[in-house]
Amino acid sequence: MYSEKVMDHFQNPRNMGEIENASGVGTVGNAKCGDIMRIFLDIDEGGVIREAKFKTFGCGAAVATSSMATELVRGKTVQEALQVTNKAVMEALDGLPPVKVHCSLLAEEAIHAALWDYAEKHGIAIEGLEKPKNDIHEGEEEGEEEGEEEGGEEG
Ligand code: FES
Repeated sequence: MYSEKVMDHFQNPRNMGEIENASGVGTVGNAKCGDIMRIFLDIDEGGVIREAKFKTFGCGAAVATSSMATELVRGKTVQEALQVTNKAVMEALDGLPPVKVHCSLLAEEAIHAALWDYAEKHGIAIEGLEKPKNDIHEGEEEGEEEGEEEGGEEG
């Protein structure tokens, strides 16, 4: 079911932990599965990511994608790090089963959230970076099957 790379990054995660006084910290959750991912970035004056670490409370694929995502952004500029999409992370892991694709989205969003935090702290704008979501399902059309809330739609 999982590629060797996914198993490797799950069993031997790279860059697990925290960065004290990180330049940017991003936390993203997924209300549907309950998983939470936090990514810490240490960024130098030139805008290059010196170090990236993660803490993930989630499934094996979430651990593997955070591990790979932190590997991919290390040594990159802030702009280059934006190219580390969930697709790039999945490719680097030799793929994920379809039901686990959302785990890699968590990694992408957590990186974006950390970059956003960095940009806010430094009063800069990162071209192409949109305000990240706290939950990856935020603003989605679907997900109304629970029906806990009244729609309140009027005519
Ligand atoms: Fe939700 Fe993997 S099952 S992040």
